Amino acid sequence: MPPLLLLSLLIGFDALLATPAIAESHSTSLRAPLHRSLPPLGAATRLDYVRELVKSDLLRQRMIAGTIGGHRYRQPRRACENATTAAAESFAMPLSSGAYTHTGQYFVRFRLGTPARRFVLVADTGSDLTWVKCRFSPRRCRHCRGGGGGGGARPFRPEKSVSFDPIRCSTDLCKTSLPFSLSTCPSPASPCAYNYGYADGSMARGIYATESATVMLSNGQKVKLKGMIIGCTSSFAGSSFRASDGVLGLGHSGISFASRVTARFGGRFSYCLVDHLSPKNVSSYLIFGSNGALAPSAARQTELLMEPRLAPFYSVGVSGISVDGEVLKIPMSVWDVGRRGGAILDSGTSLTVLVEPAYKAVVSALSRRLAGVPRVDLDPFEYCYNWTDGTKVTIPKLVVHFHGPARLEPPAKSYVIDVADGVKCIGFTSAPWPGVSTIGNILQQEHLWEFDVKNRRLRFQRSTCAPH
Ligand SMILES: *[C@@H]1O[C@H](CO)[C@@H](O)[C@H](O)[C@H]1NC(C)=O
Ligand SMILES: *[C@@H]1O[C@H](CO)[C@@H](O)[C@H](O)[C@H]1NC(C)=O
Ligand SMILES: *[C@@H]1O[C@H](CO)[C@@H](O)[C@H](O)[C@H]1NC(C)=O
Repeated sequence: MPPLLLLSLLIGFDALLATPAIAESHSTSLRAPLHRSLPPLGAATRLDYVRELVKSDLLRQRMIAGTIGGHRYRQPRRACENATTAAAESFAMPLSSGAYTHTGQYFVRFRLGTPARRFVLVADTGSDLTWVKCRFSPRRCRHCRGGGGGGGARPFRPEKSVSFDPIRCSTDLCKTSLPFSLSTCPSPASPCAYNYGYADGSMARGIYATESATVMLSNGQKVKLKGMIIGCTSSFAGSSFRASDGVLGLGHSGISFASRVTARFGGRFSYCLVDHLSPKNVSSYLIFGSNGALAPSAARQTELLMEPRLAPFYSVGVSGISVDGEVLKIPMSVWDVGRRGGAILDSGTSLTVLVEPAYKAVVSALSRRLAGVPRVDLDPFEYCYNWTDGTKVTIPKLVVHFHGPARLEPPAKSYVIDVADGVKCIGFTSAPWPGVSTIGNILQQEHLWEFDVKNRRLRFQRSTCAPH
């Protein structure tokens, strides 16, 4: 990464934080049409796409470093749980790569409201708020912004859902528990407003409400999950949001969809991420409850640390990284949350981010073994190779060692990535030390991951992610 590019990204970002006026001008109103289908990622566009991923990863990492533990709030009481729901019940939502919109996120199909409407949401393990793009009716909601004209392709219309219930700004929930809620409260009955900042520097503004989601249980029965806390977003900024209808909050916190729903469905959720370059019609699933595809004997498992300081991200215990069996010399403090290090597993980061001492060790071990392949200069990557004659080169085997015996052995394409026709690059980005390292979604792809929140276990196994 040339320092200049990094610097300009950071300056741009700081400006966004420092001056609300600039943030405002960058925000996209719901009048903007949704760009649902862009041209397929061919040779010409793939490099731009990967550069875009690196850019948003960097911003996300900056925010992770700066804001983790920054918005502490009390965990609200779980109001609508019903422990009598059979623990064996589960439900699935289709999940696919967002590459068809040229973003590095994974999208989930989600049904919200009464009658239920379908939305495409970013599945984000780093987020505790679930929100949809929304258009208020001034008739129903006097104090909300964004009412009246315009509207995106198909924003949520609260007045058309009988189960939509705004949370009032005078409630304790609004004042102390809901993240990024604003203190403005023109009257006790006014809705609780938020201005939610994301790890990649994007943001969403709107009002909090409770609403019902509709899911299809594995036995075919349709059920309504009542009283979900959702955000009704009237304005937002961020490229991945332009391509989706909002965000599904999979982070661990009292209000997140994942926390509320796992409490009722077996204490766990799981997902399988298809290859990030997969077209729109290739999908896998996000499952709440037990996942029949996870084989207890084949799955590897480690502790899901869920360090409060790294909330709502899921932290994991990494003990090291090896390349072709050589355990790399990386200081243990790099993986230690108590020593300002640590690692998280994040569905919303694309390339894996390693803090400097780990990045240097990994990149040098890989590049040493690839020294025979001709180099190509390709910003922003440090090591890229002309692979047109390199088809016979064996990519060194990288293994991530977790606490205990669990090892992640990703496919080679997950860390020596295709960036353009005949060009592969070592696909890690570096972050300053001290700091947190992030296992991104590309390194997670073609694996099934189970977040057993209740028992604090992370299980994973290789998978084609084929729906069953
Ligand atoms: C929980 O579910 C049972 C059976 O479906 C029902 O009778 C009971 O009223 C529910 N409790 C709450 C608090 O929803
Ligand atoms: C996806 O669509 C392409 C053509 O657009 C087709 O060739 C392919 O078989 C489809 N894949 C699936 C899994 O439906
Ligand atoms: C890769 O090498 C081939 C010749 O071996 C050359 O024709 C091609 O232009 C090179 N590609 C890049 C991106 O440098």
